Amino acid sequence: MASLLLRNIGVLYQAETQPRPLVRGRDMATLPHLNDAWLLMDNGLIAAFGPMSSCPDRADEVIDVAGNMVFPGWCDSHTHIVFAATREEEFVARIQGLSYEEIARRGGGILNSARKLQAMSEDELFEGAWGRLQEVIRYGTGAIEIKSGYGLSLDSELKMLRVIRRLKERSPIPIKATFLGAHAIPVEYKERRQDYIDLVIQEMLPQVAAEGLADYCDVFCDFGFFTPEETGQILEAGWKHGLKPKIHANELGLSGGVQTGVKHGAISVDHLEYCSDVEIEALKSSQTMPTLLPSCAFFLGIPFGPAREIMDADLPLVLATDYNPGSSPSGKMPFVVSLACIKMKMLPEEAINAATLNGAAAMELSHECGSIAPWKRANVWISKGIKSLAALPYSFGSDVVGQVIVNGKAFYSQP
Ligand code: NIG
Ligand code: FE
Repeated sequence: MASLLLRNIGVLYQAETQPRPLVRGRDMATLPHLNDAWLLMDNGLIAAFGPMSSCPDRADEVIDVAGNMVFPGWCDSHTHIVFAATREEEFVARIQGLSYEEIARRGGGILNSARKLQAMSEDELFEGAWGRLQEVIRYGTGAIEIKSGYGLSLDSELKMLRVIRRLKERSPIPIKATFLGAHAIPVEYKERRQDYIDLVIQEMLPQVAAEGLADYCDVFCDFGFFTPEETGQILEAGWKHGLKPKIHANELGLSGGVQTGVKHGAISVDHLEYCSDVEIEALKSSQTMPTLLPSCAFFLGIPFGPAREIMDADLPLVLATDYNPGSSPSGKMPFVVSLACIKMKMLPEEAINAATLNGAAAMELSHECGSIAPWKRANVWISKGIKSLAALPYSFGSDVVGQVIVNGKAFYSQP
């Protein structure tokens, strides 16, 4: 594979010579960087970087970045990009006054997505998800997690996970797969919830594990979905099959989801739109990473999570898109970073740390993604039309991603 040299980089951000696994609390306000730099990629990996005064004079290909900034690819640790159809009819129903919970109670929401997904072929699902994957790479995403959870039957959950496996095989960026069979209780199990939980535990999990289809196990632990006790049963069964928990918690209220995630050793607890001192206290005595999904809060009009309180507690905050048809129909990480700064008062440096290095840690990918460090993957993007770090979140409506490099090769260039 060829080498690629970027020269005349205005600022090279998140450049590390001593790679860190993640960054927490006060340290999140610091983003390592190098002014007036070059970056050499070789064989798909970061090879070296340094100041322009020591720029190498040869490489197979050279791009003059002309003073623009270079960032590591975003690490989007929470998405649902395998789905059959968008749900704009529910969006209009919410404009007219229905809540997300009410739509779900009436059989819409996740159950609506499940009906459509069950009727769609694996090939069609793959094509849709492949298109979304290409889309988010153009926004600069360099690693991604993808969940099942719109199947809600053995066959359809396996179908979704096989689509994710095909995406993994073809994707130029790393993908982690999460089994989310416990995303909602299907209508036919409404009066016998435990039967569905037993199906997840006794039939879905063993098959998912036997086929090696998932890296993690997720449960939507929230009011109207799965209780902490039910969540615990499923997460313990997941552990028995080698699947670490990574869960949805506290999107709809103080549901006990965060404490449940912590108790069962979750890698991350995601959403946390409702998060009090009690949840933060529970997180402090754990390795579980709190993940906020501000485009979901924005789209549903629910509270934004307490980013500042989480960072003040010296925790490693993560940001992700939650790209899905119901609560966040956007996979645009630059917009997530803008929302984090605008609505949650995160500093640009804090938001970028949360969306890169900490996102990588929330997918156990810190060794290969999340920063620009020797021997990590050469997945980076080059800014366009912005002159400072703060201009990135500030320019929330503009296309700030000029070029995307994946595995040391040009992937996309803004027209
Ligand atoms: O992360 N909250 C649960 N799951 C998704 C939304 C699913 C849907 O509405 O389709 C989320 O918000
Ligand atoms: Fe989600």
